[in-house]
Parts: sequence; C-alpha cells; structure tokens
Amino acid sequence: MTSPADGTESVAAPLPGETHYSRDAELDERFYDGVETAFVSDITGIKDPDELKRHVLQVQREVYAIHPYPCIRLCNFVKVKISRFPIYKDLLQLGRERPGVLFLDVGCGVGHDTRKVVLDGFPANQIIASDLHPEFWGIGHKVFKSTPESFPVKFIASDAFDDTFLTYSGIIATLKSLDTPAAGSEQPVDLSALTSLTPLRGRVSVIYASSFFHLFDGERQSELASRLASLLVPAPGSFIFGSHIGRPEKGLRVMNITQSGWFSRIPWYSFTFYTPPYIRRIF
Ligand SMILES: C[S@@+](CC[C@H](N)C(=O)[O-])C[C@H]1O[C@@H](n2cnc3c(N)ncnc32)[C@H](O)[C@@H]1O
Repeated sequence: MTSPADGTESVAAPLPGETHYSRDAELDERFYDGVETAFVSDITGIKDPDELKRHVLQVQREVYAIHPYPCIRLCNFVKVKISRFPIYKDLLQLGRERPGVLFLDVGCGVGHDTRKVVLDGFPANQIIASDLHPEFWGIGHKVFKSTPESFPVKFIASDAFDDTFLTYSGIIATLKSLDTPAAGSEQPVDLSALTSLTPLRGRVSVIYASSFFHLFDGERQSELASRLASLLVPAPGSFIFGSHIGRPEKGLRVMNITQSGWFSRIPWYSFTFYTPPYIRRIF
C-alpha cells in the first residue's frame, strides 16, 4: 500500500505486469490486432478487412464516448473467449442432443460469446443472456449488425443479486422446493415472455459466467455462486464455466481505475480478487 502525501485515500499499487487503466485513456488501434475478424465477418457479412476494421472501430468510438470501459478500449467485445474452454464442446453437444436444454450467459456484456454459441449451432431459442446494463446488448446488435428479430436470443436486463430477477432462499431450500424434470426429459420452455430467471430455477443445464465473479467481494461471490447453482438442473451433466481474475490465496486486492491515476478519494470502479475454494472447483 502506498500513502500519498496529500492525504488522499491509500490504494494498492499495480502489481508488476498489471495494466493501469485510466478512464481518459486514448483509444489505440493496436488493440484491434487480436480481434477475431473471421468471426465478426461471418456474422456481419462484411468481407473486406479494411471495411470491417472501420466498422468495429467506429462502433468502438461511439461506445467509448459513453462507456469508457477497459473492455471496450481493448476491443474485448469482439474477441471470443468461450470457445477456448475445453468444456465448450460439451455445451454444443448438449445443444445438439438434448431438445429443450437451456443455456444462460450471465453478465454477458455485448453478448459476443453468446453469438459464438449460436454460430456454432446451439439453438438461439434455448439461450438466455443477462446483464446489468441493457445498453451493452444494444451495442452487440450494432457491432454485429443484427436486430432482436435476426438474433432472437432472449435478453433480460437485471442485477444478478436482485430477488425480483432470481428469487433465492438458499440452495438447499430452493432445490427442495422445485419439481424439476430429470435431465434428458426437459420440455421446451417458451422464453419469449420471460421477465426473470425465477421460473428457470432447476431448469438450466449450462451457465457461462466470464470476467464476472471478480467484480464482487468474497461474500458476494459465494452468494452469486449459490444463486446461479439454484438455476442448474440438479443432475450430473449440468455445469457452470468461465474464467475470472483471482489470486491463489484468499484475500482482497483493490484496484482503482480513476480519471487521473491511482489515487483518488472516489474510486470509479473496484475489482476484488478473491477465489473461494469451491468456486475454484467449479471453474
Ligand atoms: C467485464 S464484463 C464481462 C463481459 C463478458 N462476460 C465478457 O467476458 O466479455 C462484466 C459484465 O458484468 C456486468 N455486471 C456487473 N455487475 C452486474 C450485476 N450485479 N448483475 C449482472 N451483470 C453485472 C457488467 O455490466 C459487464 O457487462
């Protein structure tokens, strides 16, 4: 910890190799380099590489002016992560072999990973995507040149901790109260009228949560894990996957992202780094 002489709040300095993000950081075209252009091209239909780059960077500029998040600056909204997990093939296999099986992408951001799942054949009408900020889903439509009609995945905007979104009274009580179909005998669910996840408790086979848990402290991470677990079909074969920033031992590290530097009385955003042992087992 560093104690600035001017008496401002003391925060942890970056560890070696960590990036210092500043809200007013300039956009940098070099971050386009890691973009999966084939994926974006397949979905948008833009075949010319220069036109594709112009399109992505134009959307990035518009979005960054409103939401100067590091993930927008780094072009992460067009860099697919989900298919890099070995277990991804199991998700696709479930989609092929088990009619009615449900998949949830929670904290989905613009939904680029959700789009990869659909592109790889998982039925769009069996997917639910959710995020606190609905505008991110709209950005997804913009960058991928789609509409709710052409990309009909059900999106629900909500705080994952909100009880009106997901009624939760503890994992054991929740599972005992449910009358869930056995794995493999799921009936198709009409997601079109869905406004919360509560009707899906015990009905979702696969949940993807990516770069999400590290936004919350240890207690909230435990609560989030239990909330999400209450959605799973309580049978072998259901799984939650994703990756998050963590540290090998229990602890808390606060990284402040500020307008001007590391020291600020009001942090813009704080990341917590704590991975409880059972979350490590799940992910
Ligand atoms: C770092 S982004 C990750 C986006 C995407 N999953 C990915 O891997 O690129 C974290 C996302 O979590 C969303 N989020 C933050 N707090 C949330 C909450 N309490 N409930 C639901 N979503 C939340 C943010 O809006 C943001 O889109």
